[in-house]
Amino acid sequence: MKTSVFAAVSAIAVTGAMTAVAEPQAEVLHWWTSGGEAKSVAVLQQEFADNGGTWTDMPVAGGGGDAAMTALRARVLSGNAPTAVQLKGPAIQEWYEEGVLADISSVAEAEGWADVLPASIAGHMMCEGTWCAAPVNVHRVDWIWANADVLEANGIAMPTTWDEFNAAADKLAAAGVTPLAHGGQAWQDATVFEAVALGILGADGFRKAFVELDMDTLKSDEMVAVFDQMRKMRGYVDDNFSGRDWNLATAMVMNGEAAFQIMGDWAKGEFLAAGKAPGEDFLCASVPGDGFLYNVDSFAMFNVDGDDKKAGQDLLAKLIVGQNFQKVFNLNKGSIPARVDVALDDFDSCARLSAKDMNESSDNGSLLPSYAHGMALRGAQSGAITDVVTAHFNSDMSSADAVNMLVDAVANSM
Ligand code: GAL
Repeated sequence: MKTSVFAAVSAIAVTGAMTAVAEPQAEVLHWWTSGGEAKSVAVLQQEFADNGGTWTDMPVAGGGGDAAMTALRARVLSGNAPTAVQLKGPAIQEWYEEGVLADISSVAEAEGWADVLPASIAGHMMCEGTWCAAPVNVHRVDWIWANADVLEANGIAMPTTWDEFNAAADKLAAAGVTPLAHGGQAWQDATVFEAVALGILGADGFRKAFVELDMDTLKSDEMVAVFDQMRKMRGYVDDNFSGRDWNLATAMVMNGEAAFQIMGDWAKGEFLAAGKAPGEDFLCASVPGDGFLYNVDSFAMFNVDGDDKKAGQDLLAKLIVGQNFQKVFNLNKGSIPARVDVALDDFDSCARLSAKDMNESSDNGSLLPSYAHGMALRGAQSGAITDVVTAHFNSDMSSADAVNMLVDAVANSM
């Protein structure tokens, strides 16, 4: 008798506890819609579902995330923020200052994030001492991708200087191959520009120009040389580049229509999703010059009502920094894990090169945040620079005029 009363009481207690536990829900805003990106985000969706979560997808197409950020502003302004948002760099702190981000410190502390994330990455995830975002990866931006057969057929090796790049591009153009696959969208122009700038300004010059906004560097002769090289790049793209999506530019390299693409390693996610092998079908190399431009994707949780949504945020944050997710997601995405304790044995040669270069550049002070991907500057400043880069790329503006415009635009944005 005693036993059955006890059983009945504990059954009620268990049932009570179960109904009190909210089922995790999350509406997730992101811009991962290309082949490689969609495959990657599906890993998170699956893990979330496996752990009892219900995922409402809010994909906003558009590489680089400009359209997604516009959609985010509209949602927050109407008082209906998504549960979780792909957000990165200083934009995290900008949204925090608006008072709309949830504190995920309890998850971060329970999961020991401080012990498994490099301090440089953790710093981007903190808002006034609290954890306000969860990192998924480290993308490198300063890469050149190439079609291996096209280079071989034209007797070209991966360029190690900009002069070599230009010589290779001239040779390819003469042979009827588009030297540079590019999509004329502002963020893609900025991506090429910062890769060129890193090569020509060097790591210290890049930091002064695009992290510290040092006026002397912005108006230097070296910056004129950066725009000179951008003018050359403009000559190496095909006639139909305007508005082309980045993954279609990657496809041009895959199918041999173009030889090179300068793009972050999400491009590798496209090659891999199409079944192409690094070192065989496509080649990767860092752009000429030293340094490493990092772009860390992360998710921030927005203030929402409802225990189910809060449970969804906690579950998502935990899964995102989890070891399994960091491995499987990054194998698909082209990036490397943000956690330091994920073995790279299953990763390809480009990923291992990325990890090696990241560690070396961290040691020698040339590990730098990508300005073009929103890691270095607040939106007003990075936007001002990109406007100039795009205006120059899409006109016959001289390099000297571009530099003057750059200096004015940056000064006005502060
Ligand atoms: C970057 C983002 C990458 C990739 C790329 C193209 O800004 O960090 O994860 O999605 O845009 O969409």
